[in-house]
Amino acid sequence: MRLKLKVWRQPSPDAPGQFRNYEAEANEHMSFLEMLDEVNEGLIGRGEEPIAFDHDCREGICGACSLMIDGRAHGPRQATTTCQLHMREYNDGDEIVIEPWRAAAFPVLRDLVVDRSAFDRIIASGGFISAATGSAPDGNAILVPKDSAELAMDAAACIGCGACVAACPNASAMLFTGAKVSHLAHLPQGQAERHRRVLAMVDQMDEEGFGGCTNFGECEAACPKQISIDVIAHMNRDYLRATLSDRSDIRGNAGVM
Ligand code: SF4
Ligand code: FES
Repeated sequence: MRLKLKVWRQPSPDAPGQFRNYEAEANEHMSFLEMLDEVNEGLIGRGEEPIAFDHDCREGICGACSLMIDGRAHGPRQATTTCQLHMREYNDGDEIVIEPWRAAAFPVLRDLVVDRSAFDRIIASGGFISAATGSAPDGNAILVPKDSAELAMDAAACIGCGACVAACPNASAMLFTGAKVSHLAHLPQGQAERHRRVLAMVDQMDEEGFGGCTNFGECEAACPKQISIDVIAHMNRDYLRATLSDRSDIRGNAGVM
């Protein structure tokens, strides 16, 4: 099939960007990224700059791929990362518009690549437990109720891609942050630093310039891992509980619950 692409090209963070038109040849078995690889082969062959885009695992697990395709984060298929999107979704002659994530907290670095280090800083502010890990403990040493384990695993499915931010009219990162907070809050190992963690991660999220949640629900619809907006309610509850306690006490004492 032959396709017409409109692709955002921007040589550097401060340079102005613009859409450029390209023609692409693809077959239905190609992934979306393989289709872009082919376009880039052609550009390189003609001595032009290839289109920069993020990718790593190409298996739907790393969260690196991040394209706004025809106005939808990760494209038209629900619960599917860009790298798992295949060209069988398209027809001969289709025009496809490809843009980077659009959010002030994710500045464009080049073409379709954005800087998502704001997510790393949110994780670094509290998305961990500080207990010494040592060797793997006996599986039955700490019993975890099945319901809690399921909820923790659902939240842990977040791959940090940022589609939730890109899809949200407020560019809110609350689905991402809520998933990380919820994941640890449902496990016994996460209890000791639970309140300190939620305060630090929400503060960092605000500091990075992400917007607040006003319940559009676009994040949940765009999320390739189907993270539920329940995690946002859970994070808000934990945040409220933590702020009702003395924040300075909590920050200074890992053991406060
Ligand atoms: S919550 Fe979903 S959309 Fe947001 S970063 Fe995690 S996996 Fe991506
Ligand atoms: S490249 Fe890893 S999830 Fe798409």
